Amino acid sequence: MKAIVITSYGRADVLQERDYPIPVVSGDQVFIEVRAAGLNRSDVAQREGKYPAPAGVSAEIPGLEVSGIIVEVGPDVKDFKIGDQVCALLAGGGYSEFVAVGEGQCLPIPEGLTFAEAASLPETIYTVWSNVFQRGSLKPGEKLLVHGGNSGIGITAIQLAKALGSSVVVTVGTEEKGQNCIELGADGYINYKTQNFEDELQQEGVDVILDMVGGDYLSKNVNILRPEGRLIHINAVGGNNVNLDIWKVMTNRLTISGSTLRSRDYAFKKKLTSEIKKQVWPLIENKKFRPVIFKTFPFSEAAEAHRLLEKSTHTGKIILVR
Ligand SMILES: NC(=O)c1ccc[n+]([C@@H]2O[C@H](COP(=O)([O-])OP(=O)(O)OC[C@H]3O[C@@H](n4cnc5c(N)ncnc54)[C@H](OP(=O)(O)O)[C@@H]3O)[C@@H](O)[C@H]2O)c1
Repeated sequence: MKAIVITSYGRADVLQERDYPIPVVSGDQVFIEVRAAGLNRSDVAQREGKYPAPAGVSAEIPGLEVSGIIVEVGPDVKDFKIGDQVCALLAGGGYSEFVAVGEGQCLPIPEGLTFAEAASLPETIYTVWSNVFQRGSLKPGEKLLVHGGNSGIGITAIQLAKALGSSVVVTVGTEEKGQNCIELGADGYINYKTQNFEDELQQEGVDVILDMVGGDYLSKNVNILRPEGRLIHINAVGGNNVNLDIWKVMTNRLTISGSTLRSRDYAFKKKLTSEIKKQVWPLIENKKFRPVIFKTFPFSEAAEAHRLLEKSTHTGKIILVR
């Protein structure tokens, strides 16, 4: 089969189309003919050699989410059949013609969605659901702050939180990105390049924060959390080592947590899939959540797609299609 392979670590042009062995289906895996694959920031880190694939996952082929048609099923598959159209969460290998993945990481494509739209869903929805709603226990009526509101993760967090009755404020790097977040439902935005989010939010406070920055954001985040507030980390691009005033955590009874999705085991992802099918899929079907596609590229232009992702001028997902 054809696959987009990281031929050596480095800039986008290390991504090249190559012949690659076809995966073998076993157990409860389905074999998907891939029609579209979503790009994520971590694909760039993997390409640069800064984000190794978990054990047992191809380090050479990036791609954490795909959509396509099931063309073969393993002997233990119960919920899907050949011909079904699905999207799937992967731990890698999505920039390929075919993938084999456990049925517990697959969801049916919601009616009316294109393959490109469906491929844009898994990575951000699984991440946001498990961090904002499970770990962060965001409830209707509470206020959520999303750092990087314009990111793939951010636009998913805004839409899900609003659809489920919370208010949402985001940080963004430009006014235009802020306006895009408002159009997606955010109640307000703070331009982190010209404003200090701590000053802007200290008086009112927030209940839950989804943070990918870390570093000096930690103490600012702690200062604006309301009593019983929850701070959830999904990355720390501003630094892992931080200063924490433990007294503030104690007196306000705060919870600080975080997680990484890719390395979690199959049992966890299977359970998460079934909760997402119950809680999130109806929101997509009822048009309370919409996929946002910025641009699609043929698989053969994966390097160009990565270059666009790295410019960080997009709102919405960049998708490879065939
Ligand atoms: N832990 C997990 O399981 C998990 C899973 C998926 C993703 N992630 C992480 O989530 C993040 C978003 O992923 P993505 O693929 O959606 O990325 P993306 O679309 O490439 O967006 C990255 C975002 O980071 C924002 N940002 C950078 N510095 C910032 C700062 N100082 N303050 C506020 N925002 C800042 C950028 O904001 P502007 O463009 O407005 O400047 C941009 O929106 C990445 O860091 C990724 O590694 C973690």
